[in-house]
Amino acid sequence: MKFRSSISQAFMVLALSDATLGLPVVDLLTSVHQGSLEGNGTFYGFNNVPYAEPPLGELRFRVPIPKISINRTVNDGSTTRICPQASGAWFGLSVPFLFETLTGQPPPSGPAPPSGPDPRESEDCLYLNVKSPRKVFDNNLSNLPVLVWIHGGGFTMGYKDQFDPTGLMAQGMSNGKNGFVYVGINYRLGLFGFPPKGPSFRDWDVATNAGLYDQRLALLWVQKNIHKFGGNPNQVTVMGESAGGSSIAAQLTAFYGIDGEAPFNRAVIQSPAIRPATDATVYAGVYQQFSSAAGVSSMDQARDLTTTQLQSLNSAIVANSSFGHFTFGPNVDGLFFPDELVRSLSSRRVDSSVDVIVAYNLNEGLLFTDPRVTDNTGFKNYFAGLMPSIPASKINQLATTVYPEDFSGAQPYTTQIQRLVLAVAESLIHCNAFATDLGYNNQTRSYKFSVWPGVHSADTSYTFYNGQPVDNFGFPINATIAQHFQKWWVDYTTLGEGSGSSITEIPIYTSQAKILNITDTGNFVVRDPAAGARCRFWIDGLYN
Ligand SMILES: *[C@@H]1O[C@H](CO)[C@@H](O)[C@H](O)[C@H]1NC(C)=O
Ligand SMILES: *[C@@H]1O[C@H](CO)[C@@H](O)[C@H](O)[C@H]1NC(C)=O
Ligand SMILES: *[C@@H]1O[C@H](CO)[C@@H](O)[C@H](O)[C@H]1NC(C)=O
Ligand SMILES: *[C@@H]1O[C@H](CO)[C@@H](O)[C@H](O)[C@H]1NC(C)=O
Ligand SMILES: *[C@@H]1O[C@H](CO)[C@@H](O)[C@H](O)[C@H]1NC(C)=O
Ligand SMILES: *[C@@H]1O[C@H](CO)[C@@H](O)[C@H](O)[C@H]1NC(C)=O
Ligand SMILES: *[C@@H]1O[C@H](CO)[C@@H](O)[C@H](O)[C@H]1NC(C)=O
Repeated sequence: MKFRSSISQAFMVLALSDATLGLPVVDLLTSVHQGSLEGNGTFYGFNNVPYAEPPLGELRFRVPIPKISINRTVNDGSTTRICPQASGAWFGLSVPFLFETLTGQPPPSGPAPPSGPDPRESEDCLYLNVKSPRKVFDNNLSNLPVLVWIHGGGFTMGYKDQFDPTGLMAQGMSNGKNGFVYVGINYRLGLFGFPPKGPSFRDWDVATNAGLYDQRLALLWVQKNIHKFGGNPNQVTVMGESAGGSSIAAQLTAFYGIDGEAPFNRAVIQSPAIRPATDATVYAGVYQQFSSAAGVSSMDQARDLTTTQLQSLNSAIVANSSFGHFTFGPNVDGLFFPDELVRSLSSRRVDSSVDVIVAYNLNEGLLFTDPRVTDNTGFKNYFAGLMPSIPASKINQLATTVYPEDFSGAQPYTTQIQRLVLAVAESLIHCNAFATDLGYNNQTRSYKFSVWPGVHSADTSYTFYNGQPVDNFGFPINATIAQHFQKWWVDYTTLGEGSGSSITEIPIYTSQAKILNITDTGNFVVRDPAAGARCRFWIDGLYN
């Protein structure tokens, strides 16, 4: 009886919305979602769909649990929630440095940054957006391929609505093609997503990688529910940049990398960025810092603080991070994040059943470089701050053997600051990409995005190209390159490696370390400069 009445309720909902607006309604049983027309009427957006119970109260700092509580009021998606955000104060130095280096000018003055938290921020933030081609509902299409985007932002910033997929969707539906279903997800960030654990026994079930478990739950939600939005759970591509890229690598190495375990089929890992050497010692330091600032003696006690209190602690601690990192982020837990990412990857503890594309950009280092470094002591201090658990002997090795202070032209740098820029790029990003190639027996496809200026995250404006003339830094976008770049992602999502897929323009890495160098004057197959002794240090030498 109960069953029958909920069915008839669902029909009432459908009939009502059809009659009033003609907009589709998807019934997930625990919640009911109405789409809205987006992309100039070409697709429906089902926005702010909950995939977990709100991680509040006793659920704070824990592994998320699936949505079980029931709310059958039709959700039109109009209330946007994003996770609490926080950013490093060092951007105040690195961003001007980036612009001065590239243009000889200070950064263009943009609008003043908003004061105080974004009103959309909420601790209750485990939501995702689904965008389905209009034909799914208007013509009853089903089983379309799925593209899931995991945003970046240093594990302390970013959100599901940050980038508009209209251009990608349009490319997917061009020439009468059916397109694909797009999903953008939120996951907990900063202190909320990567809470440190104290020694108190009450802290036994603090999940220091909760944010990665959020991503996994969202991906499992896709497996279970995406067919209701016209998607095929057996054809899921996951794509992400920066922290989103390293998140995907973490999903592939979770639980020591069991084949078939990652709930997706293909991955596009762009500029995978992660702080090296984030072991239990480092995270114990983060706990000390948090507990003394918060005045608590366990994370269990911190469950009694208000969101506002935690948000301001999160902001203050992340702002105070030393150059190049954000304090909170993935840390070795022996389970979901079993080991340092480069070690898990390079020793092939990965889900090898997934097809992988991995990439980095031309000028990754600038955004994370401390422009005040003028000598060898400054160089060493940068890395001592980034990796507090690494002994001085290793930092010395870094400064003498790996990146010797030799500006004669024998090294790929001729000034002190170029030396730092390269070491930063390799340690935070390039070598993670190389470790991914190694993890997949060199069967990856790899590229380097060298379109000027190729700074960290500039490629995201190409992935989400919507005709805008400039990227998120204000540098010009080459429309020809952007459209071709999007074609790769659309083809990979919809055709994979199959016939007619343009993705095969990107070569298989092989033991020759082949990558496609994407430049302003064309694409060239070259040898990966990351495949060498310096990255071997970041992958093995640092930890042995
Ligand atoms: C929106 O669609 C209309 C009608 O198809 C078209 O004329 C217009 O150019 C489109 N606008 C954009 C921004 O694509
Ligand atoms: C139930 O969902 C509706 C629509 O999304 C929302 O406005 C309302 O606040 C929700 N109620 C509860 C108790 O969460
Ligand atoms: C839509 O497709 C489903 C399965 O593909 C089918 O069962 C259903 O009858 C179709 N509905 C309409 C209105 O064509
Ligand atoms: C900021 O960092 C410095 C140096 O690491 C430390 O001494 C200070 O306590 C920190 N402040 C906060 C609010 O965490
Ligand atoms: C993968 O490529 C790298 C770089 O060329 C090489 O050092 C390594 O031996 C290769 N591994 C395998 C399994 O072919
Ligand atoms: C890739 O292209 C860029 C831009 O033209 C160039 O600076 C760089 O040296 C090239 N990289 C490789 C490895 O050839
Ligand atoms: C854009 O890229 C294409 C393809 O590499 C190139 O032919 C063209 O000259 C570029 N346009 C500009 C304005 O740089």
